[in-house]
Amino acid sequence: MEFDDVLDAAAPGRVTRDADVMASYSVDWTRRWSGRPRAVVRPESAEQVADVLRACTQHGVAVTVQGGNTGLVGGAVPSDGSVVLSTRALRSHGPVSADGSVTVGAGVTLVELESLAAEAGYTAGLSLASGESATVGGAASTNAGGARVLRYGSARQRISGLRAVMPSGDIVDRRTSLVKDNTGYDLTNLLIGSEGTLAVITDVTWKLVRPLTDHLVVAMSFPDVRAAVAALPTILQLPQIDAVEWAEGAAVSRVAEHSGTPTPLPAEGFWVFAEMGSSLVGAEPVLEALMSGGLDSSRIAIAESAAERRALWSFRERITESISTAGVPVKLDVGVPAERFEEFVGSITDAVHSVDADAVLVLFGHFAESNIHVNILPGAGTFADDVAGALEDAVLELVLSHDGTISAEHGIGRAKRRWLIRQRGETQLAAMALLKNAWDPHRILNPGVLLD
Ligand code: MLT
Ligand code: ZN
Repeated sequence: MEFDDVLDAAAPGRVTRDADVMASYSVDWTRRWSGRPRAVVRPESAEQVADVLRACTQHGVAVTVQGGNTGLVGGAVPSDGSVVLSTRALRSHGPVSADGSVTVGAGVTLVELESLAAEAGYTAGLSLASGESATVGGAASTNAGGARVLRYGSARQRISGLRAVMPSGDIVDRRTSLVKDNTGYDLTNLLIGSEGTLAVITDVTWKLVRPLTDHLVVAMSFPDVRAAVAALPTILQLPQIDAVEWAEGAAVSRVAEHSGTPTPLPAEGFWVFAEMGSSLVGAEPVLEALMSGGLDSSRIAIAESAAERRALWSFRERITESISTAGVPVKLDVGVPAERFEEFVGSITDAVHSVDADAVLVLFGHFAESNIHVNILPGAGTFADDVAGALEDAVLELVLSHDGTISAEHGIGRAKRRWLIRQRGETQLAAMALLKNAWDPHRILNPGVLLD
C-alpha cells in the first residue's frame, strides 16, 4: 500500500492534505520559520497516535509534532515532506483528584487547564501570554516557563506523570500523581523538555496548587539597570511574591503606542513588575524599604483591583505582540547568573550594533530568574539570513562569555541548534544522541529540531 493510504487507514477521517488547512500548521507565530508538510493528521487518542507513528516509522516518513504552534524557536514547524502530527484533538480530561492533580490530554490549552483547576479551587501555576492557544502537551515537551516560575516552577515542577507514544508505536504510560516513586529511570522527566524528539506526549498529569487569596501588582521604574539590580533582594522580600518581571522603558512605550494606553509612570529607565499574593498594607514595609533605598515614590505604580492589575500587567505581557506588529524580530531567550546581569545588559547593545548599526533592540524578561528576552528588529525591511545569523552569534557569544544559557525557557528548536554544542559540549551531545538513537532509531521524530 502507498504511504498516503496507510496514513489514512491509521487515522480515518483525521488526515488532511488541503493546502488552505495545512497553511496554519506550516508557519510559526513569529513568521520566521516555515515548512511544507505532506499532510496534517489530528489523532483523537493515544492509540491512534501509535497507529500513525507505526505507519510513519515503517515508511520512513518524518513526523513533526505540533501542539498550539506558539513556540518561538521553530521547534514545531514542519520539515519539508513531513507529516504534522497535531496533538490538539487529544482533549480528554479526568476529574481533579483528592491530592489536587488532574490528567488531561495533550491538546488541552493552558487556559482550559486553568479553568479546570479554578473550578476545583486550584490554579495550574503556569501562566503564558499565549495560554489561549498553547497546549499542555507543548508545555510539557518544551518545559515551558513563564512569569510565575519564581513561585510554581517550570512545567517540569508541575508535572508528576505523563503518557507518551514511542516512534515504534509502543506506549509508555506513566500517568501518575505519585510524587514519591523511586522505581528506576525517570522517563517522565526525560521526555519533559525533549522537544518532541523522543516520543509524542499524549496525556499529562498536572499537579495543581492552591491559589493565592490576595493579589497586588506593583510596577517600579528604576532610573537604570544598576538601581534595579541593587533593589532585587528587597523586591524578593515582598510578601507571597510570585513574579518579578522586567522591561526596558522603551519596550513599555512600545506597548503604550500599540495599545493606545498611556503608561502610568514615565516610560524610561528600567521597569520592574512584581506580582504578589498580598494586600497593599502587607506590602507596605517592603515598599518603604525600597523608597528608603532611593526609589522615588513617583516611580511606583500600584494596582489593586482585578481590572487595575490586568491593565498594569499588560505593559509587560503585551511586549511580544507589540514587537511582532513592528516586524519579524530575531528572538533570543537567554539567561546569565544574577551577578552578571547588569554587565550583560550593559554590553548587549554594542554587540548587536557591531553587526548592524541600524538594528533596534527590545529587551525585557523575567527578572527573578535573570532571564533576558532579546528581540532585535530590523531598522527597515527584514533581516537577510546572514545578518540574522550574525546577530544571533554576537548575542550568544556574549551569553557564553557571561557563563549564561543560550535558552532560558524557549528551548533549542531549529533556531538554536547549531549553538547547542557550544553550550553543552561534545560529551553531552553524544549522550543525547545515544538517547535519541535508542528511542527513535529511524530518526523520524522532529528531524532538525534540537539535534541534527
Ligand atoms: C514572554 O516572556 O513574554 C515570552 O517568553 C514571549 C517572548 O519572549 O516573546
Ligand atoms: Zn518569557
